[in-house]
Amino acid sequence: MPYAMIATVPGGPDVLTRRAITPPAPGPGEIMIRQTAIGLNYIDVYFRQGLYPWPQGDGLILGSEGAGVVEALGAGVTGLTLGQRVAYAVTNGAYATHRLIPAAQAVALPDDIADEVAAAVMLKGLTVHYLIHHSHAVTAGDTVLFHAAAGGVGLLAGQWLAEKGVRAIGTAGGPQKCALARAHGYDAVIDSRAEDVVGRVMDLTGGAGVAAAYDSVGADTILGSVAVLARFGTLVSFGQSSGAPEALRVSHLARASLRLTRPSLFHHSASPGWLARAAGDLFGVIRSGAVQVCIGAHWPLDQVAQAHGALEARATTGSTVLIP
Ligand SMILES: NC(=O)c1ccc[n+]([C@@H]2O[C@H](COP(=O)([O-])OP(=O)(O)OC[C@H]3O[C@@H](n4cnc5c(N)ncnc54)[C@H](OP(=O)(O)O)[C@@H]3O)[C@@H](O)[C@H]2O)c1
Repeated sequence: MPYAMIATVPGGPDVLTRRAITPPAPGPGEIMIRQTAIGLNYIDVYFRQGLYPWPQGDGLILGSEGAGVVEALGAGVTGLTLGQRVAYAVTNGAYATHRLIPAAQAVALPDDIADEVAAAVMLKGLTVHYLIHHSHAVTAGDTVLFHAAAGGVGLLAGQWLAEKGVRAIGTAGGPQKCALARAHGYDAVIDSRAEDVVGRVMDLTGGAGVAAAYDSVGADTILGSVAVLARFGTLVSFGQSSGAPEALRVSHLARASLRLTRPSLFHHSASPGWLARAAGDLFGVIRSGAVQVCIGAHWPLDQVAQAHGALEARATTGSTVLIP
């Protein structure tokens, strides 16, 4: 029975409600996908909480990452066929058995990339791609700081940075998460619940600081991220799981002629040609074994409220996949 999990109003996980749907018919340039696996992301929490603007209408279907099979093609769609396996990272609409996406945002899946792997990495892995190639384009020998190292984005980042010869220092909450991150490419992982992060980063770098600080935690970490940057270093603020990083002021950057960027995946994936190229790179590092995809939990789609609760409680590691 086709269904979607709809957030009826902004609020806690309990606003996510199961509702029967009719699989939608694609308009021009769109495809309809029967989904086999859906990725959970922190952006889903921001939308559910009402932090990001809601579109008009009868509730919101959250979810921005998934994989499945093409079941219908809209007018003018070329290059995709019925029955083809595809994956995507497209804002909202994913918590459903069937959904529409623009054909231009679909990535054809190679035979050796399983649906649930694709659903676990399309948004998170493509994010890591632009973070390390564009926001601060790393070079071998760099030392960087990456917060939330044991999370979905974090475990992919540690491995991809290691593959590039970068020394990554991570942070994670608690000894088990630190051990997991260390097993996924990080050279050192600081327990953010028990240790002084700034002091430890400065010790680990002999006082020099890091070339880039990748900060998705926000309010709790942003000033520490500024404090550990080396001269001309780059602060990449790409999320706010602990709240908005409002304490940061432009004048803080004067300490060491620092750079600041606040990027979004969706500006990168809108650039012509970028999506196919970046997805090809991502599948390549997965295929080579340099990046192993850690799926920490599977949930039935209609239990997504529990999955949200776990993500917000910092109780997840790696990627969480929802099965319709
Ligand atoms: N800008 C973009 O293009 C983009 C794209 C994708 C993701 N992101 C951002 O990247 C971050 C990671 O996303 P993800 O889906 O992979 O999530 P995740 O890292 O698996 O989960 C978030 C983690 O943040 C840490 N955290 C620290 N303080 C927290 C708090 N007060 N509440 C909740 N979590 C807290 C927790 O790890 P510890 O317990 O180890 O501290 C938690 O496990 C998110 O901030 C997300 O918005 C941005």
